[in-house]
Amino acid sequence: MKNLENKVAIVTGGNSGIGYAAAAELTAKGAKVIVTGRNKEALAKAETELNVTGIVADQSDLKSIDNLVDQVRAKFGKIDIVFLNAGIASFAPIDSASEEHYDSIMNVNVKGAFFTVQKLLPILNDGGSIIFNTSVNAHLGMPNSSVYASSKAAVLSLNKVFAVELAARKIRVNAVSPGPVETPIYGKLGLEKEEVEGFGALLGEKILLKRFAQASEIAKTVGFLASDDASFITGSEIVVDGGLTVNAVV
Ligand SMILES: NC(=O)c1ccc[n+]([C@@H]2O[C@H](COP(=O)([O-])OP(=O)(O)OC[C@H]3O[C@@H](n4cnc5c(N)ncnc54)[C@H](OP(=O)(O)O)[C@@H]3O)[C@@H](O)[C@H]2O)c1
Repeated sequence: MKNLENKVAIVTGGNSGIGYAAAAELTAKGAKVIVTGRNKEALAKAETELNVTGIVADQSDLKSIDNLVDQVRAKFGKIDIVFLNAGIASFAPIDSASEEHYDSIMNVNVKGAFFTVQKLLPILNDGGSIIFNTSVNAHLGMPNSSVYASSKAAVLSLNKVFAVELAARKIRVNAVSPGPVETPIYGKLGLEKEEVEGFGALLGEKILLKRFAQASEIAKTVGFLASDDASFITGSEIVVDGGLTVNAVV
């Protein structure tokens, strides 16, 4: 259903994985979509394939966010939907996690998401929709995930507080928390192919539906939260994990 006609949407990290699928979904629903990312070639590919506007922006760099806002204001004026999707993952045990590991994840996943919202607010229409991409890791005690998991838990806190602060402007703020999704992120973890496959097999067993999600399945939830179909939903989190987090211990 084309229920996002006349809406302008930004998808951060929209040149790959879940962001790419969300850009496709929002476009299919009639929105004009802007996608961001650092990789110019991947952005150009998304522009051609999805009929979206690509803007190079590094979410961990405040000047780059300012530049993004300037470009969006110049090209589109106001916007209606923001999907804070850009994020990175890497894993390390507590005794060997470095400051670089900590800062790189927090700078993109938390600081970047926080300031992207803050800086987009002046051009976000009242009645708009903000959606964070968090993760089931925010709720799990998965070994070696402390920094990534806490970055996503921090985003869940932003979700609740921003929902309260922005309610006066009728801006709805929600989060989607995916379980494992088949995307290029697993190739970026610095693990050997066999390690990724082993990890995937282990996780797959724990997921009630016995498979990873497709990015499009997360994108559909984003499309729903962005639309008036979710008009009474704010400050909420939708977990899209095939039953991973409710799987029984025995
Ligand atoms: N895949 C999963 O199983 C899963 C599960 C739960 C949550 N998530 C979350 O879903 C989101 C998307 O992940 P994905 O799985 O789709 O991975 P992906 O394919 O690696 O996509 C990550 C996206 O984020 C962008 N990005 C990374 N760092 C950035 C930065 N500093 N500035 C701007 N853009 C940046 C990347 O673009 P550039 O490289 O061009 O910058 C890319 O478009 C992440 O927040 C991730 O934590 C994923």
